Amino acid sequence: MSQFLSTEQLRSIADEYGTPLYVYHAEKITEQYTRLQKAFEKSSTRFFYASKALTNINILRHILSLGCNIDCSSINEVHLAVKAGFAPKNILYTSNGIAFSEIEEAVSLGVNINIDSLSNLEKFGKKYGHSYPVGIRLRPNIMAGGNLKISTGHEKSKFGIPIEQLDAILALVKEENLFIAGLHVHTGSEIKDVSVFMQVADIFSELVPHFPEARFLDLGGGFKVPYKEDETGTDVPLLGEKVGEFVNGLKQKLSRDFEVWFEPGKFIVSECGYFITQVNVLKQSGTIQFAGVNSGFNHLIRPMFYESYHRIKNISNPDAPLLHYSIVGNICETDTFAWNRELNEIREGDYLVFYNAGAYGYEMASNYNARFKPAQVLVINGKVQLISRRDVFEDLLRNQIEVL
Ligand code: LLP
Repeated sequence: MSQFLSTEQLRSIADEYGTPLYVYHAEKITEQYTRLQKAFEKSSTRFFYASKALTNINILRHILSLGCNIDCSSINEVHLAVKAGFAPKNILYTSNGIAFSEIEEAVSLGVNINIDSLSNLEKFGKKYGHSYPVGIRLRPNIMAGGNLKISTGHEKSKFGIPIEQLDAILALVKEENLFIAGLHVHTGSEIKDVSVFMQVADIFSELVPHFPEARFLDLGGGFKVPYKEDETGTDVPLLGEKVGEFVNGLKQKLSRDFEVWFEPGKFIVSECGYFITQVNVLKQSGTIQFAGVNSGFNHLIRPMFYESYHRIKNISNPDAPLLHYSIVGNICETDTFAWNRELNEIREGDYLVFYNAGAYGYEMASNYNARFKPAQVLVINGKVQLISRRDVFEDLLRNQIEVL
């Protein structure tokens, strides 16, 4: 049975902590990680949680307690991972377009690193030669993912070293005597089709004979999770089976050992999260009934930025008849969460919950319009705990310097 928080639980949490509020459910994270482990038990697979999805230190510690590793996209995420208690060997820094000084810092911390440009690879070779193993992030020229903004593997994407530059990579590896420990590809987010991952696996099988010291093959993140009522996510058991066949075949063919690495973000934390808002105003305009909530794209940017769909429920009036609403925010800009959505009759003051709010929700929030960022709470073993407080007025001025 899937782990979820009930309408009553969410209502009572909102009553206690106020809104807008992010709520996370630790047991759902555990369930998702267990699903992955089960699906991949027959292949040597390591999972690195893509921490950019949600970086609260308590979430990181819960994920650490499950035995999961961590993937970082900035040196600050690496520092957070170290602070949370991850051992350097279980931390991966998958970089893109970063200053070489961050790579030097990552080396000094002893973490795994994937480098995504010839320029940084060359600097790395000149400084460390063969002394520090490193992964190469490649761009496979595959179009995949939920929408263009979250597709990273296509031929116009900034990410990774284009695979057509293989000769230049190999020349550099030879010249600088680099220790290439693995290959990495992340094609995008919300990839439902298992064959996309297997296409990358095929590319790896062709490339890996050129890299005799490579021991990990990193297929990135991007597993799709259901956002809509009738959606299904990536068939993870099928992917596990296919990856098992692939890696065992490759081991036999090349008489070398390989580990497959994945970096799931959404899969691990999307469904554990709930974003609770409250309706400030109802406004009828022609045939449109607006319900304006005490939030906006400053708190949950995904609908406006990616046209993402989040399920919404009126948890204050769950048995009322269904009517149609446009759910909008209070930001002084067009700020629509959902158009013409069927919801139980809404009254001013009702709580509306957005589902799938764990990944890239709070993490992409801002103080636009000088609004406060919401508080975050964690439900774990039936206990509800505040894990970050709501902003207060002083937070808005915290970094400002009054010179006038
Ligand atoms: N690995 C790398 C190198 C990545 O760039 C990403 C996501 C992941 C792993 C994790 O992908 P996931 O499993 O979460 O799909 N803010 C967007 C998603 C951007 C993803 C960026 N990179 C959204 O809210 O849909």
